[in-house]
Amino acid sequence: MSKSILLIIGGGIAAYKCLDLIRRAKERGIDSRTIITKAGTEFVTPLTVSALSGHKAHTDMFDLGSETEMGHIQLTRMVDLVVVAPATANLIAQAAGGLASDLASTSLLATDKPVLMAPAMNVRMWNHPATQRNVARLKADGVHFVGPNEGAMACNEYGPGRMAEPLEILAAIEALILGPQPLKGVHALVTAGPTHEPLDPVRFLGNRSSGKQGYAIAAALAAAGAETTLVSGPVAIAPPAGVKLIKVETAHEMLAATESALPVDVAVFTAAVADWRPEEIASGKIKKTSGPPPSIKLATNPDILASIARAKLRPRLVIGFAAETENVVVQAVQKRSKKNCDWIVANDVSHGVFGADRNKVHVISADGSEEWPEMDKHDIANRLVARIAKALETAA
Ligand code: C5P
Repeated sequence: MSKSILLIIGGGIAAYKCLDLIRRAKERGIDSRTIITKAGTEFVTPLTVSALSGHKAHTDMFDLGSETEMGHIQLTRMVDLVVVAPATANLIAQAAGGLASDLASTSLLATDKPVLMAPAMNVRMWNHPATQRNVARLKADGVHFVGPNEGAMACNEYGPGRMAEPLEILAAIEALILGPQPLKGVHALVTAGPTHEPLDPVRFLGNRSSGKQGYAIAAALAAAGAETTLVSGPVAIAPPAGVKLIKVETAHEMLAATESALPVDVAVFTAAVADWRPEEIASGKIKKTSGPPPSIKLATNPDILASIARAKLRPRLVIGFAAETENVVVQAVQKRSKKNCDWIVANDVSHGVFGADRNKVHVISADGSEEWPEMDKHDIANRLVARIAKALETAA
């Protein structure tokens, strides 16, 4: 099941970093519900926040007594964690004093979920005994803190008070909501996206792979604690946080990048590698003439999965994907032995899986075939990573 947070955005210049936090959390399968304090709306707009999170951004600019708004308290119960970022001196003081004078402070008082605060304020405000007293009281109440970091501040002073970076906050969020990391110490490799095989400087052969499933798997592996390298063909999605990204264009580049990432414990091959490439790449743009259209002579690309599955440094667990349009399981069983991989995740692509957010797969291993219900690609990634963790644990 995917995780969610309630992000309370306070009124500080660091509020802009929350936009990146929401985006990166989403890539890792963490949904963000949001409340922006009145002061927070001076720094980020509800429109931007709701566009990024995909949900209405609640603000303090309403009547707390109104029945429709009372429902927002429910938000604090639905989520796995409440995050306050930036946690201003005022929000910290309100929470420490148990005040419920607006939606943000009311939510902090009403929640039964863990709370994480990312303070951000002027260095003197942070060092003030009142703030330090409030922080100590909140810590005693069980509130978690990430940062503040030390550095140059927007107010031209230097010292502690800078809000932690989005990736640091995300790591703290994951540590709190994902619990133990079963893949700590494990090295993982994922290939994702299509490859582009050039014909000339402006044209290429490619395919419709969006990279979504592979990116979700890389994110889930990293969230489970694995040191993850993602070798990706050209895609339009942002890389997951905490993952080492190697961008490539062609199958040959993907093979070289994959080989250079070895040794790893587990490798997941989700890339839709072009089976063929133009045998020759024209040095200039091929000109349109009045004669017959040019014909393209193709050469066979290397099979990256098959090559790594037979390599000297073969990962302990090699997982391939198989996109089929008919006899999905039968084809995938054959592919598993032909390519010497441990598992094949097979999906039926006759109904437009490429680019979609959901997928339906069969997982084929030496133990037989397992049919999974249709799920969000992030949920498939999480379930696959749980299976990987179990397999590596058994093999260890
Ligand atoms: O043979 P087919 O392309 O259907 O096999 C799919 C699986 O093999 C996927 O895991 C894909 O990432 C991998 N593959 C590869 N290199 C190729 C072709 C496929 O790694 N050239």
